[in-house]
Amino acid sequence: MPNPARILVKEETLDPAYLPPKLVRRETELGVASKRFREALAKGLPYHLMVTGGIGSGKTALVRRLASDLERSGRGTELPVRQAYINCWRRASDRTVMLDLLHSVEVSLPDRGYSLSEMMDVFEQGLRRHPQHLIVLLDEAAALVKQETKLVYLLSRSREVRLGSISLVLVAAQDLLPYLDAASRSSFGVTHRLSLAPYDREALVEILTARAALALRPGSFEPESLEQIARIAAPNGDARFALELLAGAAHVAEDLGSDALLPEHVRRAKGSLVPTLSESQLEALSTNELGVLLALSRSLKGKGAAVPSQKLRANHAALLEELGSAAMSRTTFWRTLKELERDGLVTLEAAGSGESSRVAMDELPASYLATLVEERLGRGSARKA
Ligand SMILES: Nc1ncnc2c1ncn2[C@@H]1O[C@H](COP(=O)(O)OP(=O)(O)O)[C@@H](O)[C@H]1O
Ligand SMILES: [Mg+2]
Repeated sequence: MPNPARILVKEETLDPAYLPPKLVRRETELGVASKRFREALAKGLPYHLMVTGGIGSGKTALVRRLASDLERSGRGTELPVRQAYINCWRRASDRTVMLDLLHSVEVSLPDRGYSLSEMMDVFEQGLRRHPQHLIVLLDEAAALVKQETKLVYLLSRSREVRLGSISLVLVAAQDLLPYLDAASRSSFGVTHRLSLAPYDREALVEILTARAALALRPGSFEPESLEQIARIAAPNGDARFALELLAGAAHVAEDLGSDALLPEHVRRAKGSLVPTLSESQLEALSTNELGVLLALSRSLKGKGAAVPSQKLRANHAALLEELGSAAMSRTTFWRTLKELERDGLVTLEAAGSGESSRVAMDELPASYLATLVEERLGRGSARKA
C-alpha cells in the first residue's frame, strides 16, 4: 500500500519552544517595547519591562522575539546585547535563578554553599570579562516575586549596585507590582508595563495560518479547518491551545492514513485534549434536540466544519421521515438549535444578508456523536414501546 503523503513536514515549528520569525498581530506592542529599549540603550541606560497576559496570549514569544531582535541589531556595536532567558516556574528562588544567570555569562559555581552575594560577585566578574548589555528575561516570575526576592531589586538597580548594564524583563500572568518592594516598583511605572489582551478569533486564524504554512505540507489543509480550530480556541484567546489542537489534528489525520487534515480530525483531536460532551449531558437532552444533533452529525460526518442551516433543516426533515416521526415546524427547529447553542453543543454562525447561517459542532467526532445519539434515540423508543 503506498504511504499517504505526510502532513506534518516540519513538526518542530509547532513545538511551544519554537520562536516564530514573525509575530502576527503583535506588531504594535512589539514596536512600542522595541522603541523604548532602543532609546534607552542608545543613551547607555537599561530599560525594565513587565509583561502580563493570560495563558497563550503570546507573552513568552513576545519577550523572546523582542530580545532576539535587540540582540541582532546590537551586533557589532560598542556594547553588544545578550539575552538570558530563565523560566522561574520550577526554580523559584533567588539562588537557583542566579545559578542560571551565572551560566548565561559563562561562569559556573557548584550549586551549593555560596551565598547570594558571593554569587553576585562572581556574576559581576563574568559580566566584566565580556562587556555587554544583558537583558534578563524572567518568565513565569510570579513564584519568584512572591518569595521576597532580592534579585529583582538588584537586577533592576544594576547601575547603583555596580553590576554592569542590565535590563530586566518580568513576565507573568498577573500584575506583579503588589508583590514588589517600593524601590523595585518604581522601576516598573506605567511606561514600563505591557499587558497583552487575549487573541480574538481573527487573530487566532492568522496565527494558525502562519504556523500551518511553516509546519504542514502545502495543500494538506483547508482554511476551513484553521477557522474551526480558531473558533474552538477563541473563548480563551489561547494561541498555545490553538497550536496544540492543530498539531493534534495533523497527527490524527496522519494516523488515519489521510493525506489531508479535515474538520473531523480536529474534532477527534479536541476530544482527546479536553473533556467534552458527557453521557449525562446527553441524557439531559430532549428528543427534539437529539434529533437535530443526529441530523447535524450525519451532515458533518467526514465533511465540513459547519453546514448551512437550511441544508441541516432539510436533512433533519429527511431524518424525521426515516424515523417515522412527525415533521417539525421551522420555529421549533430554530428554537431547538438555540437550545443546543445555549447548552454549548453547537455554534451558530451568523451569515451575510441573504445567506443561510451556518451550524457548527466541534465537540466530538461527528461519527461518534451520531452513534451516541442513535443509541439514545433507540433506547428511548424501545422504552416507549
Ligand atoms: N502573535 C503571534 N504570532 C505567532 N505565534 C504566536 C503569537 N503569539 C503566540 N504565538 C505562539 O503561540 C504559542 C503560545 O504563546 P506563548 O508566548 O507561549 O504564550 P504565553 O507565554 O502567554 O503563555 C507559542 O507557540 C507562540 O509561538
Ligand atoms: Mg509563557
